[in-house]
Amino acid sequence: MPKPAQWDSTLASAIIAAHSSLDGAALPILHALQDEFGHIHEDAVPLVAQALNLSRAEVHGIVTFYHDFRRDPAGHHVLKLCRAEACQSMNGARIASDLLATLGISWGETTPDGHLTVEGVYCLGLCACAPSALFDGEPIGRISSETLADVVQQARAQ
Ligand code: FES
Repeated sequence: MPKPAQWDSTLASAIIAAHSSLDGAALPILHALQDEFGHIHEDAVPLVAQALNLSRAEVHGIVTFYHDFRRDPAGHHVLKLCRAEACQSMNGARIASDLLATLGISWGETTPDGHLTVEGVYCLGLCACAPSALFDGEPIGRISSETLADVVQQARAQ
């Protein structure tokens, strides 16, 4: 995965300005900021609020409402586990909770060694291969506890 840029308020302001004339600019701006910096830095909130004439609370509300936005930097690798219906019905919930228990983290958190962030997503469009996941953007179908143990090992090795 490409390493996200360090927080830079000048660069953030340029990103915000480049998207601020779009309809419903808040989401495209936040996505662009996350693409650049890997998460929504807390200092981004007042910049976005000012540019869009919103309150900080409104911007904060958007960031916390959408599961896509991270408020903390991700680990070196990101594993996204599907938490939607088809995957849940194929044992996805138990596989996920076992993994989180083994790693000692909750949804959206990163292992203490910084190697792996585990996030929930709601349907990856891979329902036919449920339960499904994405590891650094690569789809993995029919996951099992064994598959995920390999993923964790791979994340720790790189
Ligand atoms: S429900 Fe999991 S990929 Fe669609």
